[in-house]
Amino acid sequence: MAALIALCTAENLLARHLSRPRRSKFYVAKLQLSKTSSCCFSTSSERNSKFYSDATEAVKDIPHGATILVGGFGLCGIPENLINSLLKTGVKGLTAVSNNAGVDNFGLGLLLRTKQIKRMISSYVGENAEFERQYLAGELEVELTPQGTLAERVRAGGAGIPAFFTATGYGTLIQEGGSPIKYNKDGSIAIASEEREVKEFNGRHYIMEKAITGDFALIKAWKADKAGNIVFRKTARNFNQPMCKAAKTTIVEVEEVVDVGTFAEEDIHLPSIYVHRVVKGASYEKRIEKRTVKKSQEEKPKPKKDSDIVRERIIRRAALEFEDGMYANLGIGIPMLASNFIKPDITVHLQSENGILGLGPYPSEDAVDADLINAGKETVTVLPGAAYFSSDESFAMIRGGHINLTMLGAMQVSKYGDLANWMIPGKMVKGMGGAMDLVASAGTKVVVTMEHSAKGGKHKILEKCSLPLTGKQCVDRIITEKAVFDVDKTKGLTLIEVWEGLTAEDIKACTGADFEVSPNLKAMQQI
Ligand SMILES: *[C@@H]1O[C@H](CO)[C@@H](O)[C@H](O)[C@H]1NC(C)=O
Repeated sequence: MAALIALCTAENLLARHLSRPRRSKFYVAKLQLSKTSSCCFSTSSERNSKFYSDATEAVKDIPHGATILVGGFGLCGIPENLINSLLKTGVKGLTAVSNNAGVDNFGLGLLLRTKQIKRMISSYVGENAEFERQYLAGELEVELTPQGTLAERVRAGGAGIPAFFTATGYGTLIQEGGSPIKYNKDGSIAIASEEREVKEFNGRHYIMEKAITGDFALIKAWKADKAGNIVFRKTARNFNQPMCKAAKTTIVEVEEVVDVGTFAEEDIHLPSIYVHRVVKGASYEKRIEKRTVKKSQEEKPKPKKDSDIVRERIIRRAALEFEDGMYANLGIGIPMLASNFIKPDITVHLQSENGILGLGPYPSEDAVDADLINAGKETVTVLPGAAYFSSDESFAMIRGGHINLTMLGAMQVSKYGDLANWMIPGKMVKGMGGAMDLVASAGTKVVVTMEHSAKGGKHKILEKCSLPLTGKQCVDRIITEKAVFDVDKTKGLTLIEVWEGLTAEDIKACTGADFEVSPNLKAMQQI
């Protein structure tokens, strides 16, 4: 009994202590309870979370100019009903923190079309043409933020950490500042991004990134129990989980509300303390951005074009980079296709930064699932033993050096391994997605696969990149249809393989940087 009383008192103290704006209904209820009753262990279902039957009711107090954190990756796991409700309330001047911007006529794209969003903080917006138009025309403010940095800034916001240091973005526009957030009508820069503070730890450079918090979080989850505990489904967890923790008011729409006890306590992804409002969505379209399926056996292979032959050569060389037991993250296109050629006697675990370890092949028609996509927004499957996780967890895995190999495409690579693949100033602003985080990881081998030269014969391997960098001195190997180079961050390039029939002299003639030739120069290997 003494222990119980002591607990009650402690809880009273705690309740008084928590009388800040975020104070939860749960504690208020307990405070009242403990005043009138001899003890405080409430068995009533009253918790932090209030349940709404109408999504518009749940968002109607979001004021003009609010900062909203919006969960989802591409169109996967986006709060469809809550976004539609904002169209009804007509709230304007929003700052929206969201990894992507939807497509022109779905997801956040709807709120862009109605000009309800003033600023976006995102990592990749390439799927939305109207977005790109508004941004380049100076009608929309955009803070492009590396995907892992975005996830961690939100995580930090929810965890009470005001700022942190990351290697991601060091030596790029993100660190240097001056990246356009808003353009003027004439194309000059109206608002530029700020420079980041740099610090050295153990001989590496890191930049300071500040936490993100929001006024409201708009979240899509799978199920809530009546206490407000949440579970997510497959890759629809993504940014939803960290965003739940980083807003003053978190509004979660779910497909189903279930009784307490339906989920075992240890299977709950997000405890109710982070959940202020729950609404069961009226309906879900779950639109699929890139519906990809396994090719059926009967389908005849298409005739090969020259560009296909070049690609296949790179793919068949890239596949030799895989080793048994490796964890690998593969970019869209050639790197992902290389996984089709992994030797049957080795196991490679594929990570997809939207929250999968153990990625499998494309699904059959009947196994397509809108809640299960890869980082390229394609429908996929997972292999036995796979795991799903949130975006902040995914990038902890990446940043922490737990992934052995990253393979990705490039627009330019410099002799010392600088990589440019995310932006052509004034022309193409799709965003860096997770690339800056992937190449900044110290323990990860970075392999670039690309065509040797750009259209018109312009060099892609250069003394110095002319485009904004994705990472500085980060590439370890370059594979093209003509050659393979090893990259040393201080000594430069070494040619280690050439395509049959070509010589080192031929490669010199079509490469924009000096290189050494390995004494063991080999013919280019193919799987
Ligand atoms: C992958 O990386 C881990 C360290 O993070 C290392 O222990 C392991 O040997 C590596 N595996 C391969 C196949 O490179």
